[in-house]
This record gives sequence, C-alpha cells and structure tokens, in this order.
Amino acid sequence: MRHDTTPHGFPSLSAAAPFTLADRHADAQPRELAFYRDPYAFYDAVHAASPAFFWDNYGHWCFAGFKEVSALLRDKRFGRQILHLMSREELGMAPPKPHTAAFDQTEKYSLLALEPPTHTRLRGLVNRAFVSRNVEQLRPRIERLANQLIDGFEADGQVELLRAFAAPVPAIVIAEMIGLPADMAMQLVDWSNRMVAMYMFGVTHETELDANEASIEFMDYVRHVIAERRRQPREDLLTHMLTTEIDGERLTEDEVISTTILLLNAGHEATVHTTGNGVKAILESALDPKSLFADDKQTEATVEECLRYDAPLHMFTRYALQDVTLDNGLSVKQGETIGLMLGAANRDPSRFAAPNRFDPFRPDGANVSFGAGIHFCIGAPLARIELQVAMKTLFDRLPGLKPATEPQYKNIYHFHGLERLEVSW
Ligand code: HEM
Repeated sequence: MRHDTTPHGFPSLSAAAPFTLADRHADAQPRELAFYRDPYAFYDAVHAASPAFFWDNYGHWCFAGFKEVSALLRDKRFGRQILHLMSREELGMAPPKPHTAAFDQTEKYSLLALEPPTHTRLRGLVNRAFVSRNVEQLRPRIERLANQLIDGFEADGQVELLRAFAAPVPAIVIAEMIGLPADMAMQLVDWSNRMVAMYMFGVTHETELDANEASIEFMDYVRHVIAERRRQPREDLLTHMLTTEIDGERLTEDEVISTTILLLNAGHEATVHTTGNGVKAILESALDPKSLFADDKQTEATVEECLRYDAPLHMFTRYALQDVTLDNGLSVKQGETIGLMLGAANRDPSRFAAPNRFDPFRPDGANVSFGAGIHFCIGAPLARIELQVAMKTLFDRLPGLKPATEPQYKNIYHFHGLERLEVSW
C-alpha cells in the first residue's frame, strides 16, 4: 500500500482501498495504517454488501448491522466463556502461555470474561456504586477536577490534551471511587495501556512480555492496598468488595484483584478515547461549540453523538454456546467465535440518517457504544457524566480551541483512539 504525505508530514490514505470485500469475505488488515485510521470506509462497503461477513484476517464471522449487533449482544446462545462446554483441543485453542500467566490471572475473574451465575454475583456486588443516582453525586467533583486541570495548562496556549486532560479526569475519578490516591492515576493509566495492548490484532512477543510485567506490578500494588484495607477499612469500593457478603460468602482475594483491575482499566480507557475522538470531531466540524453545549439536554445529545460517530471500542467477540442458525440463514457451530462490530453498527445507514455526518442535533443518536445485554457497560452512567462535564468545561473555558497538528489514531484497531491530540487556543 502506498502512503502519500499530508502538509503536516503525516502519511495519508492512498487511492487504493485498504480492504477487499467479495462473496461475503473480507480481507482487511487491522494493523494497516490506512485501515485503522479510517475503518469507516470499510464499514460503508460492508453495509452496502451484507451486514454479516467472514473476516478472513480474523478467521470468523462478523456482524456490522445495528439490528444484528444489538440482537446478538443479547442472545443467550452466545457467551464470553466456552471452556466449560468444550476443551481447548476440541476448539483448536492454543494452551495458555506461561509468559502471559500474570496477565491471564488478571482476566480470570474479569466480569467481561464471566457468565452467570459467577458474573451475576460479582456484578451485583459492584453495580450499586455505578447506578445513575450514585454517580450523579460525583458531578461537582468532576467539574472541580476538570477546571483544576485546565487551570494547570491554560496559560501555555497549547497542550497535548489526552495526557493533560482526557486521561486524568476518568483515571482520577475511578481511582478515588475504588479508594486509591489521585496521584496514582497516571501510573494506573500506564499499567492499563500496556495491558490493553494485548487486544490488538497480531500481538508481538514483546507486547505480551510487557503486558505481563505490567500485570505483575499492578497486582502487587492492588494486593498491597488490600492488605492496608483489611487492617484499616474505609468508606470506599475496595473495602466494600472485601467485606460484603453475598449468600453468606465473601469474594476471594483473586476475585477482588481481578475486579479492581478491570474497573480501573475499563474505568478510563474508553472514556479517554471518547474525549479525544469527540474533541477531534467537534474541531473538524464547522459547528459552533457554544451551540453544542448550550444546555444540559444538548450537552447530553452532543456526547451521545460523539459516542456514536467515532466509538472508542470497535469489536467485541462471543462464542457460540451451541450450534446456531441465525435469521439470515447463517449457521455457526458450537465453539465458533463471532465478532460484533460496535463502531460499524453505529454507522449503519438503515438505522441512522446520513450516518457518516457528525450531527449532535440528530434525533436518532442512541447507539451501541456501551454494548447491550448482560455485559452492558456498568460504567455507562459515570462515563456519560465525565464526558458531559469534561467536554463542556473544556469548550467553555477555551472557546478558541483548535488542532495544532493532525491527530493520529493508535495502532490498536479494537480500541479506536488517538495517539496524541495537540491543541492550541
Ligand atoms: C465512553 C466510555 C465507555 C465505553 C464506550 C464503554 C464500553 C463498554 C462496552 C461496549 C462494554 C461491553 C463489552 C462486551 O459486551 O463484551 C463495557 C463493559 C464494561 N465497562 Fe465500559 N465503557 C466505558 C466506560 C466505562 C467506565 C467509566 C467504567 C467504570 C467502571 C466501565 C466499566 C465497564 C465494566 C466493568 C464492564 C464489564 C461489564 C460486564 O461484563 O458485566 N466502562 N464497556
């Protein structure tokens, strides 16, 4: 693939499409710059051809239609776990790798990887902290935090927004909810970034080693704080997880560690990227930011459109728990993986009018960026408040905000977010 150069010296898309799509088979390389930078050209082609296609590079069926993705996320014939039904040998799954043992350990009791009844039990324990009426109380704290961060760089006239603003807001909020000091937030971001690199297509051995190292450090830290809380309980989520009994039982230490790490990682990764992608979309549109945050209702709609237009998470997978024949006649066998393409579903022309237009005034903005079904994002109400407060405060305080260089996406297709976002005012 040929890459041309833009005035900023960044590679731009060449004329050739970075994918082929024929007979419901797609060849699209997720690590190709032209692809991960603009997966939407591929999605357009998929929507025009068929909402279901076999993605050769991944080796499984994928679903891009809004209706299909929404239904499959709720379909109990598909799940996140399969090893309780089939062996690794039957699935052709490689054995666990010793050099990623610590990373695998952090995932073992992750809500995202569990199914009922364990999922129900763990989710029930932390759910209350994240329901709307509880997280709504955090709004003044988030406002204060957003303003303090802007105070720190306002006089500079320019900043890299992800590190200075988009990351610390959600990282500090989730750290404080769990009961960790705010000054640990950027260390948590570092561990998390190194761990989520494991979800990229074609992970290298170095990435695996680094993610494992980050998992060891992260677990050691959480274990150390757990020991402190056992000695001296506090009014925080960590103490709650350690002391609350469900059906007469407490969580094991491993369950608490997994859940804490999941909450800390999921609690900021996607929010950081939504802030970055959303600010970029607003700056690239010809819209007046004042009108986008004119009142609470419009602020909510603007955030919803940011989530729809350039979603931070593009694909989640499920296993078929039994042989399934879908409405469209497609059959998948027990143990097969399917890919549910959230970012593509949000651009489905049969669901959204002019889907490729960033339009915070659209009446049909409800999207699947937070998923659906039993794994529906537990942090959605919190993320929405963080995004509303952070983006409104940013554009209120810095009305002359403009991009300083051309923003570049990270090479992690599943996590669709920017490497950096240099802005000036
Ligand atoms: C814009 C920000 C966010 C987006 C787009 C997002 C998106 C998602 C999605 C799509 C899922 C479902 C994955 C699946 O079905 O396999 C999910 C699950 C989850 N999210 Fe979020 N999330 C965001 C922010 C947050 C925040 C702030 C938290 C803080 C606690 C959080 C915690 C979780 C957890 C714990 C799960 C697993 C739930 C389960 O498996 O039951 N997320 N998120």
